[in-house]
Amino acid sequence: GKVLLAYSGGLDTSCILAWLIEQGYEVVAFMADVGQEEDFEAARSKALKCGASGFFLEDMKKEFVEELIYPAVQCNAIYENVYLLGTSLARPVIARGMIEVALREKCDFVSHGCTGKGNDQVRFELAFYGLAPTIKVVAPWRLPEFYNRFAGRSDLLAYAAEKGIPVVQTAAKPWSTDENLFHISYEAGILEDPNTTPPDDMWKLTTSPQRAPEEPEQVHIEFAKGLPVKVTYPASGKTVTGSVEIFLSLNALARKHGVGRIDIVENRFIGVKSRGCYESPAGTILRAAHMDLEGMTLDRNVRALRDQFITTSFSQILYNGFFFSPEREFITAAIPASQKTVNGLVRLSCYKGNVTIEGRDSDEGLYDAKFSSMDEMGGFEPTATTGFIDISSIRIKAWARAK
Ligand code: ARG
Ligand code: SIN
Repeated sequence: GKVLLAYSGGLDTSCILAWLIEQGYEVVAFMADVGQEEDFEAARSKALKCGASGFFLEDMKKEFVEELIYPAVQCNAIYENVYLLGTSLARPVIARGMIEVALREKCDFVSHGCTGKGNDQVRFELAFYGLAPTIKVVAPWRLPEFYNRFAGRSDLLAYAAEKGIPVVQTAAKPWSTDENLFHISYEAGILEDPNTTPPDDMWKLTTSPQRAPEEPEQVHIEFAKGLPVKVTYPASGKTVTGSVEIFLSLNALARKHGVGRIDIVENRFIGVKSRGCYESPAGTILRAAHMDLEGMTLDRNVRALRDQFITTSFSQILYNGFFFSPEREFITAAIPASQKTVNGLVRLSCYKGNVTIEGRDSDEGLYDAKFSSMDEMGGFEPTATTGFIDISSIRIKAWARAK
């Protein structure tokens, strides 16, 4: 049979490629450009050298930003209060690119190098089945004939030497990463001890806050229906529009100022706990700015319902890998309905790892300075509030008496 392999160019997927061929498969390699820093040409020649009969690179950056990152920004998506879901958000577009190529190239199988303990195996495979229900999956790290043969890195290196697979002799980093334009993740290796502080040279995307510039840098972000449509840097007057362009521009700002580093012990879908470190530069700025603008433009009860049901559900659905599901379609249909009034401008600055909101403005009119003012009467009689408190206190007084 013919198999399309999600190829990374690293040691694991190169050995998987050669191993699949040894098992009798014809192997085609697939890579998605989701904005990671990568030498795609080197990966292509390596895949072909490993014996792939073809190599396909798909640019998924625009889909990634507009179909996955945008709804996440609109609902302030976050997993376990800390993780901004950078890997989870990229998997659906990578899987979709892969299935497109697999069907076009008439592959019977798709394969990946995810371990048997993680979230990514679940995300990829549920996405494959959600897009092509009859596709068959080869997951080598869950096949005894594979994992018994490759018990450790030394077995992979020996196999690579035997198969003539070029091994790039960069000093192996003692952790594993996953990168895209939203974030980079660091897991495993020395990070498995949750009490090990990540070494400063691990962080790849952001400047260390200590070494970041001594001056804050301002940016103005204009939102329409909860989405960033224009970014302006007042210091230079520079303006940026366009979905991917805005995202990359805010990434550059956040990276320079050390914004977006986190360190968490999280609960994986299959039930194991895992320590991860992440850098989500632009995502951190956008979440802070968007939540701020909602304070001024979103109705209180819409906000509460959205926080309770949409934000948590969307985040969990994405984390657990159910993007191609009826519940995800239902949830994302509700997101734009919550964002009709989220229009306006947020002014903020980045400084040594922090995002500071400096002001906001909107024409929506839900916030009325005169109406909210402590210095003015207006809208309702102060005596009405006496009644409001009287009635609200019935239960509280009963409780206090009973105690
Ligand atoms: N723990 C994060 C998540 O589940 C990051 C996973 C990183 N994946 C990887 N193949 N390195 O979303
Ligand atoms: C893996 O297990 O392949 C990476 C980590 C994860 O998927 O959670």
